[in-house]
Amino acid sequence: MLDNKKTATLNVHGRTLELPVHSPTLGPDVIDIRKLYAEGDVFTYDPGFTSTASCESTITYIDGDEGVLLYRGYSIDDLAEKSHFLEVCYILLYGDLPTAEQLEDFETRVTHHTMLHEQMQYFFRGFRRDAHPMATMVGVVGAMSAFYHDSTDIGDPWQREVAAIRMIAKMPTIAAWAYKYSVGQPFVYPRNDLDYASNFLRMCFAVPAEDYEVNPILARAMDRIMTLHADHEQNASTSTVRLAGSSGANPFACIAAGIACLWGPAHGGANQACLEMLQEIGTVDRIPEFIRRAKDKDDPFRLMGFGHRVYKNFDPRAKVMKQSADEVLGLLGVENNETLQVAKELERIALEDDYFVSKKLYPNVDFYSGIILEAMGFPTSMFTPIFALSRTVGWISQWKEMIADPSQKIGRPRQLYVGPPHRPYIEVEDR
Ligand code: CMC
Repeated sequence: MLDNKKTATLNVHGRTLELPVHSPTLGPDVIDIRKLYAEGDVFTYDPGFTSTASCESTITYIDGDEGVLLYRGYSIDDLAEKSHFLEVCYILLYGDLPTAEQLEDFETRVTHHTMLHEQMQYFFRGFRRDAHPMATMVGVVGAMSAFYHDSTDIGDPWQREVAAIRMIAKMPTIAAWAYKYSVGQPFVYPRNDLDYASNFLRMCFAVPAEDYEVNPILARAMDRIMTLHADHEQNASTSTVRLAGSSGANPFACIAAGIACLWGPAHGGANQACLEMLQEIGTVDRIPEFIRRAKDKDDPFRLMGFGHRVYKNFDPRAKVMKQSADEVLGLLGVENNETLQVAKELERIALEDDYFVSKKLYPNVDFYSGIILEAMGFPTSMFTPIFALSRTVGWISQWKEMIADPSQKIGRPRQLYVGPPHRPYIEVEDR
């Protein structure tokens, strides 16, 4: 609930405006400018939303200076160590830790929605085999509204709930099938006796010709990757989902919009770009050359997996991910993996370099995740789809929160117009 006890005074166009100031549970105060245009005849200008809160939310909190990430108040470190992905999904969706009974019921509901409508296979088959799995995912998820008509009425809370469960349940199947299609292998159907992460690994790596045993340590690492990516408050893809949803679009269309936004290399595409960069660096002796390029204003190259709009300290997810990378590579007996050595040395050098120190650029979640995923056997093109399937619960939780918010309006930013003023049209023969 917003309280309006504090105000900020703004003098503009010779008028003095008293603007309400709201205090959040955590984080800086927020100046409420909703009446600014009506009362002051001005807009605010904030490209990239660097200082703008776009909504009220109870889901996720980030303290970028302290390197803190909380889902519904629970720290990411506790969740990564003690919880598991489906419990995290419950927390994000419903706000609290589930009882044992609630968790069992939730897991059963998700598990029984993992299959795709059989007709959707033909949709996959319409794509070129060499399509990027993210391209396939955007298309297939967008097409879900053509298959699940009974959960597209956003005014019906029950349908919203069913859409949320369907999306969380089906996304691993969609991501795995996008992968299977790209490598020319048969689709593997989900299995209800496996946990969420194991099921996903099996759908990616099993083939009908032989038995496949899921390695429990790899399943645990996959589950942790999913937990670490589950939500991140109003990032670009989540804001895209909210903006798409604000017009009343159905949830499948909104999540497809989120996947499209996530794909970019400044956002979810960074995990693929980061591993490709580490492989391009190749050996530790080449690191200085890449550090120099990252610092060169005339070179568009950036250190992928480094820097963050909100974190001006260690990304807490990167710390867990680094530990997980050591564990997984150790388990697989490839702890001397050259890419991991390059990553560690790159991190060490960058964290001692004045450019990165002064700009507060630290490793982010994408810096180590690709190393783990590659060691598990995933091609780089699958890294961002795995981010997308993990973030789906965050997107859908934020979308549900927005739809249920009575103050929700269509998102419609204003602009600072710098184009030509009104001018006369000139007939073509007179130009
Ligand atoms: N390498 C070199 N310089 C950098 C980097 C980097 N990775 N990131 C930021 N800078 C510099 C940038 O050039 C700028 O310098 P100056 O002030 O001299 O112009 C300064 O640091 C601030 O950068 P910015 O682009 O204004 O910051 P932003 O908040 O708009 O961008 C970011 C944040 C994540 C897009 C950016 O740090 C970046 O491009 N990082 C690499 C891509 C990446 O790893 N993205 C994943 C983010 S975490 C997961 C996710 O969100 O999906």
